[in-house]
Amino acid sequence: MRTQVAIVGAGPAGMLLSQLLHLQGIDSVVLERRSREYVQQRVRAGVLEQGTVDVLREADVADRLEKQGHPHHGVNVQFDGDRLRIPLSELTGGRSITVYGQQEVVKDLAERRERDGGRVYYEVPDVTVEGVETEKPVVRFTSEGRVRELHCDYVAGCDGFHGVSRTTIPEKELTTYERVYPFGWLGILAEVEPSSEELIYSNHPNGFALHSLRSSTLSRLYLQCDPNESIEQWPDDLIWEELQTRLGTSDWKLREGPVIDKNITALRSFVSEPMRYGRLFLAGDSAHIVPPTGAKGLNLAVADVDRLARSLTDYYHHGSTTGLETYSEECLRRVWRVQHFSWWMTSLTHRFDGPDAAYDRRLQRSQFDYLRSSTAAATTLAENYVGLAAV
Ligand code: FAD
Ligand code: DHB
Repeated sequence: MRTQVAIVGAGPAGMLLSQLLHLQGIDSVVLERRSREYVQQRVRAGVLEQGTVDVLREADVADRLEKQGHPHHGVNVQFDGDRLRIPLSELTGGRSITVYGQQEVVKDLAERRERDGGRVYYEVPDVTVEGVETEKPVVRFTSEGRVRELHCDYVAGCDGFHGVSRTTIPEKELTTYERVYPFGWLGILAEVEPSSEELIYSNHPNGFALHSLRSSTLSRLYLQCDPNESIEQWPDDLIWEELQTRLGTSDWKLREGPVIDKNITALRSFVSEPMRYGRLFLAGDSAHIVPPTGAKGLNLAVADVDRLARSLTDYYHHGSTTGLETYSEECLRRVWRVQHFSWWMTSLTHRFDGPDAAYDRRLQRSQFDYLRSSTAAATTLAENYVGLAAV
């Protein structure tokens, strides 16, 4: 088999790259370890920056997003029951975010690639990437019992944090940076009308909680928890009790309903540099992870892929490799801005135990008061949250 760009991973990064390349007449093949059903039912991100929505429009996959996505012009930050609305659009010259499930984005992309005859192989468990330091990379895999060899010009590693692409780069070529947080997020999807039109990030003495939503009948909620706990230790009653405690205020209560999905995710910050090795380009979670507090992981994946698609287009249409050569350096500038913002939002809103706990909490209170009293402080949060155009 032959293609121009072999893409490992059919998450948002891989599928979007395939679609953006297709619109430029560039051929790709996508290889995914899991089944299509699994990839499309996996509940994850929900907040899209305006820049992300713009790229999805450009990719011609935003019809349903325009109809079903919820634009938000503000976000709430809460400390010890005091709720503060940050007017995102007012502080950023009219920019906003859109709430639309990541798995819906992936569904829209998969349907579109299918309609256009795109080659996507699901349930391919054994991808290997070879020869990326030569002119002729080869990707090997088994599909429907047959061993296949895919010859290509370039490989895009869009296979997430646990993928194979990054691990094919010799260790000595990479520098990694990491912070593992001593807590995780328990996330639920519940069949109940959202209790607030806008998101609420809450810092309570018991720990962090987040109120988000998916539609007029679906709420998405998160609780800070121990990352080593199993989901069985959290019966639904306990989850609702803790959400009420952490999100409630003197005049606001959470609506409750049937829980239809729940899971626990550990929180981590991670960057692997550079994002290119020979003819292999990493994009999205395969190169970097942020804690979900800033709602940035998906948006960062889209920014990488948009940059990579433009660079590959420059190469195939004009013979220029400049964009490919500067890909890693330019992406990493945004990656590190977002690493900082995600760490900062996490530090502001979570419970930290240990000898400095009381001191840390006083710092959080001070920062919260500063957000309330200073337009400059609130603008810093707002412009990072909606996404910086240039970094
Ligand atoms: P992934 O979505 O991980 O996709 C990688 C794909 O590669 C997967 O389908 C995987 O099965 C496949 N794969 C892995 N290994 C192989 C292999 N060996 N061969 C072939 N295929 C392979 N981000 C936001 O922007 N906003 C949010 O609000 C937000 N909230 C989040 C909430 C939670 C609870 C979690 C867990 C994450 C959240 N994120 C958020 C992060 C966001 O979901 C990720 O950053 C995003 O999925 C990254 O996309 P990706 O395509 O790079 O990687
Ligand atoms: C959602 C997830 C996030 O990580 C976040 O910061 C805000 C919202 C969500 O799933 O809706």
